[in-house]
Amino acid sequence: MGKVIIFGNQKGGVGKSTCTLLAANALASAPFNLKVSIIDLDEQQTIGFLHEGEVSRGTHPIWNLIAYPESITGGKIHKFLKVFNQALDEYDIVFVDLPGYLDEGGKTDTVSPMADYIFIPFTPSDKDTYSTETYLLAMVDKIKQVKEEQERELKVVPFANKIDMRIRSQVAYAKSILTDFQEIHQVKGMQNMLGLYKDHANTGIDTNLYGGINDSQSINLTKWVNEMYTIIKE
Ligand SMILES: Nc1ncnc2c1ncn2[C@@H]1O[C@H](COP(=O)(O)OP(=O)(O)O)[C@@H](O)[C@H]1O
Ligand SMILES: [Mg+2]
Repeated sequence: MGKVIIFGNQKGGVGKSTCTLLAANALASAPFNLKVSIIDLDEQQTIGFLHEGEVSRGTHPIWNLIAYPESITGGKIHKFLKVFNQALDEYDIVFVDLPGYLDEGGKTDTVSPMADYIFIPFTPSDKDTYSTETYLLAMVDKIKQVKEEQERELKVVPFANKIDMRIRSQVAYAKSILTDFQEIHQVKGMQNMLGLYKDHANTGIDTNLYGGINDSQSINLTKWVNEMYTIIKE
């Protein structure tokens, strides 16, 4: 039986699809070598689009894609459950990529209680923290629902993405958000973060997923992947 992982946030553009791809590629590679599938439930088919690009370039993705842009609510749930359960039989890890909005087609509501892990990427800014917290609260409700109805544990794990090294206070700010989430909602976030990958030619500060040259050790893609693996293998 595979494990189901979702990168979720009601806000678009925080890196749900990007982090799904990063994690899928990492877990499908050595030393993990897991069988990985991604179910793309987003009407925009971000992952489906990238998968197509890879295939047309002849670089076959090391993970499987299940494109599923159609609705999954109401009577349509049965068809989806067939696809979903088959994926769970065939793969070690099934990622589900969702659209940005909590209520769009009810997909988040339907799928989140089927997950084992919901990772919540967020960018540390005041404006985004509110929507992240709203989403987090909705997922904390799902933890209770899953416990009561299925007698199992759903793990909810926030982490910071797109840390901009030019803004020196960002790492500290992200950490303070995670501390608040833990104290207020009893949800433990990830220690490792992902940087904003971009060349800031004009400042001379080069930032990327591994952090800048003088970075504190908390921004590092490799460490982030390893931490993620530690969480999901529990
Ligand atoms: N760590 C990052 N550094 C730089 N750009 C990023 C990072 N994570 C995501 N992005 C970019 O942000 C945009 C939105 O990301 P995406 O994964 O599509 O978000 P979502 O799925 O949450 O809507 C994309 O252009 C993506 O390349
Ligand atoms: Mg997306």
